Amino acid sequence: MDYSEGQLCRDSPAQAPHIRCMNMAPLDSLRGDYAGMAPDWTVTQTPDLYSDEEQAVWRLLLERQSALARRYACTEFLQGLETLGIGDTIPDYAAVNAKLEPLTGWRVVAVPGLIPDAAFYDHLAHRRFPVTVWIRKREELDYLVEPDLFHDFFGHVPLLTDPVFADYMQEYGRRGVEAGPNVHLLARLYWFTVEFGLIRTAQGLKVYGAGIVSSAAEIRHAIEGDGVERLPFDAATVMHRPYEIDRLQNTYFVLDDFRQLFEAAQTRLA
Ligand SMILES: [Fe+2]
Repeated sequence: MDYSEGQLCRDSPAQAPHIRCMNMAPLDSLRGDYAGMAPDWTVTQTPDLYSDEEQAVWRLLLERQSALARRYACTEFLQGLETLGIGDTIPDYAAVNAKLEPLTGWRVVAVPGLIPDAAFYDHLAHRRFPVTVWIRKREELDYLVEPDLFHDFFGHVPLLTDPVFADYMQEYGRRGVEAGPNVHLLARLYWFTVEFGLIRTAQGLKVYGAGIVSSAAEIRHAIEGDGVERLPFDAATVMHRPYEIDRLQNTYFVLDDFRQLFEAAQTRLA
């Protein structure tokens, strides 16, 4: 499977990447159920159908990562968690949308799993964030090959309540729609911001990237790890920096302010 570029997700440190990619694997090799999806790759989430075991896995992950996030994540992320009322049951996407849409115009849409880049970027450009409908199994708490509901929801959705970050995500989607052969440059921007971004705050260095905040090991490593490069964020530098997908990161880029992101999304792709 070519995971070289595209939409990027990861929550398992030193383990498997979750990358939504342009050159997707055949659908029958992916974990999700793609039968009956709409032309835009969305499906209907049926919250009542999650089993007790699936709910228990959600609770386990939520309790663990919420505790870590309270220590390591930026205020905007924590406020988003609270505002959306993310609690001890698997979120009902429609109920979340009733809170999220009035705030920033963003909505969560349910998808079977990985979707092609073109569909992903189109959703973002229209303020729709694709969230996988299935959740990992208990034996996969820290190991996952494809992004699941926990990574997509816990990692990504809280920051969509922040107006500045919300605008960046839409702009990123718009650029993706038109990026053509330079899409890998945007993919690097996504990787080092949306998935693995750090931000300097009055409370110290904090995480905001979904790949960090949804991973027990990476969240500690990103802030406290020895021998880790933490460089000032610069869009042009980021776009020319290859990333490694199957291990804890050696390099993170640090924002001073989320407003830098919107400017970064305007960067010429060359
Ligand atoms: Fe992700």
